[in-house]
Amino acid sequence: MAFKPADKIQDLQYFGEFGGVNPSISDSSTYTFLSAKTMFDTFEGNAEGCYLYSRHTTPSNLYLGEALAAMEGTETANVAASGMGAIAPTILQFCEQDDHIVSSRTIYGGTYAFLKNFTPRLGIKTSFVDITKLEMVEAAITSKTKIIYCESVSNPLLEIADLEGLAGIAKKHNIPLLVDNTFSPLTISPKKLGADVVLHSLTKFINGSSDTMGGVVCGSQELIDTLRNVNDGASMLLGASMDSLRAASILKNLRTLHIRIKQHSHNALYLAEKFEADGIKTVYPGLTSHPGHELFKKMMNKEYGYGGMLTIDVGSLDKANQLMELMQERNLGYLAVSLGFYKTLFSAPGTSTSSEIPEEEQAAMGLTDGLIRFSIGLDNDIARTYQMMRDCMVDLGILQYR
Ligand SMILES: Cc1ncc(COP(=O)(O)O)c(C=O)c1O
Repeated sequence: MAFKPADKIQDLQYFGEFGGVNPSISDSSTYTFLSAKTMFDTFEGNAEGCYLYSRHTTPSNLYLGEALAAMEGTETANVAASGMGAIAPTILQFCEQDDHIVSSRTIYGGTYAFLKNFTPRLGIKTSFVDITKLEMVEAAITSKTKIIYCESVSNPLLEIADLEGLAGIAKKHNIPLLVDNTFSPLTISPKKLGADVVLHSLTKFINGSSDTMGGVVCGSQELIDTLRNVNDGASMLLGASMDSLRAASILKNLRTLHIRIKQHSHNALYLAEKFEADGIKTVYPGLTSHPGHELFKKMMNKEYGYGGMLTIDVGSLDKANQLMELMQERNLGYLAVSLGFYKTLFSAPGTSTSSEIPEEEQAAMGLTDGLIRFSIGLDNDIARTYQMMRDCMVDLGILQYR
């Protein structure tokens, strides 16, 4: 039966303390105990329903975590102060000195930098592989491999990971598959395709208003308990905890995610088809020219479309910069990193979000200088937007007038 993530969000029913339609926000950093014994038990992890201290968790954070777990179809979830605040502790929880990770080479620059530059300081090594080549992924696994890591739709090249294929390899070798689903919430449900852990930067589509950071790790109760353990839990001890007020605001935005994703996808498909027809090198999973198109179609929850992210290549960094500046000047969006906003955001990944990746590796993975990454907005009249974008391209000589 088809998995319906938006129904899972719709079906949540949380009452506020005084019968409010929104759950009450717990505006406290610490919590009282009626007995010292319960405090002791809570520290030991044995007092169900008792709150301890807000770095551990809070009622507001639990509401948001449970909503995201429902959306991803996992047992539970733990929210964090940022996407990296969820990703880094989760990876560290699985790995220790001398361990090994197999990771996609096309991942968000911060995660790449964490695996390439930071975890080696702790004696953890990573092999970066072309995630679209399952045989390469399997060949990279050693007796020390503790996790396989990828993004469902990769940042910024929009490569599509075969999650069922990867999960098969992971199961065969008894290794968990961790998937960052930031680019494709609702559209792809990695857990349903066999992933063990689903991560998100909530900063992007899920919150959708570019006003806060957030992250989440969705997984088994056992994993989340481990991450929150007061003695050796990486989430608890590294301290990237979310604030309750933010958890409450993100939960409110989550309720409209399905409507937003459909509009982002509608607009992105429209623009991708037009740009491609204009002869511009366009990468969008919804285009039949995308090498991962059929795979995406097979994995997707159909009604949400192919997502709001697309890239075009305008030939050189100079042209890319000129185009982005002109589009911002004409109020078509913002020259800014990040994604999932109501306005279109654009950036040149080679010199921004993926600048952590050395130039020769960027070239090897196909991250060219002229690449512009777009997070397409919620524009009501996307035909008007297209005409205005096209005018910018014509004015800069990227397109000839036709
Ligand atoms: C795919 C992906 N994962 C993780 C992150 C990190 O999230 P945050 O910036 O919220 O720490 C980002 C940020 O750009 C991202 O694009």
